[in-house]
Amino acid sequence: MLNLVYTGVQILHNFGAVAVVGSPAVAWWFARDNPAAQCRLAWLLVIGWAAQGASGAGFGMTSYFLKGQLPEISGVALIALVAKIACATCGFAVGILYLNMASRWSVATRLKVWQGMLALAGTALTAAAFLRWFL
Ligand code: HEM
Repeated sequence: MLNLVYTGVQILHNFGAVAVVGSPAVAWWFARDNPAAQCRLAWLLVIGWAAQGASGAGFGMTSYFLKGQLPEISGVALIALVAKIACATCGFAVGILYLNMASRWSVATRLKVWQGMLALAGTALTAAAFLRWFL
């Protein structure tokens, strides 16, 4: 049962990771002249970051409520976890900002924001590897 819950949380987390990395990559390389497509990708981005935050919390809640304790975490793993939480918070906030403001931004500004979002997602994905192997 516990493994099944972890698997469900991990599935959401994995698809969320694809969304936060994939949407800025596609917006930058394939849809840079297509504001309508970029708007749909911004929705995907916001949903992706929200899924990461929710499923990240889901990992913790599963451990706490079904296993009886949170994992002991310190050092490199703790830094990686804090980095992921910071990325998810910033990514979600910038995504919301994009949905509200991007129609007034120039093409160059939008491109810079997508590049920044890709860097943010890449940082979180890199932190995930450290969290996995230093836990
Ligand atoms: C609030 C933010 C986040 C929290 C609290 C969080 C938490 C976690 C936790 C607890 C695990 C399981 C660690 C393990 O035992 O291996 C995990 C795995 C993972 N996370 Fe996150 N995460 C967050 C955001 C992200 C983001 C933004 C990404 C990608 C862009 C990401 C990608 C991954 C990946 C790929 C794994 C699987 C690692 C593996 O097992 O090889 N996470 N995350």
